[in-house]
Amino acid sequence: MRLDSAYARQVAILHHFGGFARGWEPAECAALMVDAAVVTDGVFCGRRSEPVGFIMSRKAADEAEILSIVIAPGHRGDGLGGVLLAAHLARLGEEGVARVFLEVEDGNEPAERLYRHFDFREVGRRKGYYPKADGTRVSAIAMRLDLA
Ligand SMILES: CC(C)(COP(=O)(O)OP(=O)(O)OC[C@H]1O[C@@H](n2cnc3c(N)ncnc32)[C@H](O)[C@@H]1OP(=O)(O)O)[C@@H](O)C(=O)NCCC(=O)NCCS
Repeated sequence: MRLDSAYARQVAILHHFGGFARGWEPAECAALMVDAAVVTDGVFCGRRSEPVGFIMSRKAADEAEILSIVIAPGHRGDGLGGVLLAAHLARLGEEGVARVFLEVEDGNEPAERLYRHFDFREVGRRKGYYPKADGTRVSAIAMRLDLA
């Protein structure tokens, strides 16, 4: 389901649970979510009114970059990430996107598995791209999926 900026606070909270080095403030999420080039989808569980996961992409011409995908910690490994990514890719395809790009931290096995499951292919690496809390740095793996 597409999420509008009314969900910005929940998206910021979910993003926080993604364990990324840099958090997103609700106002920053809201600014992204009102941008016409940004597509945000959420996944819901049972009758809960708050999403248990979200995915956000930015479109440019016939390409899109996945900015973030997070499933709440207690709901991981149940297939929700796959459901969310499938719905989001279908929407991007309907909106004329032909190529989707993303970057994932080297060693983020659940995310890498999820992307490879959807036929994303590695197209490059940025060495030492992500700073870690312990002062070390980890490479980013750039991936690409052709939809058309
Ligand atoms: C990445 C993430 C969104 C996946 O969501 P999820 O709902 O747990 O994923 P799914 O249950 O749909 O699993 C998708 C695939 O990943 C695999 N997977 C899930 N958890 C896994 C784990 N802990 N280790 C290895 N593989 C795992 C599943 O087996 C499945 O692959 P398969 O179909 O080949 O068996 C979730 O782990 C998350 O929110 N992580 C923190 C944020 C993050 O790292 N986001 C990505 C940033 S690039």
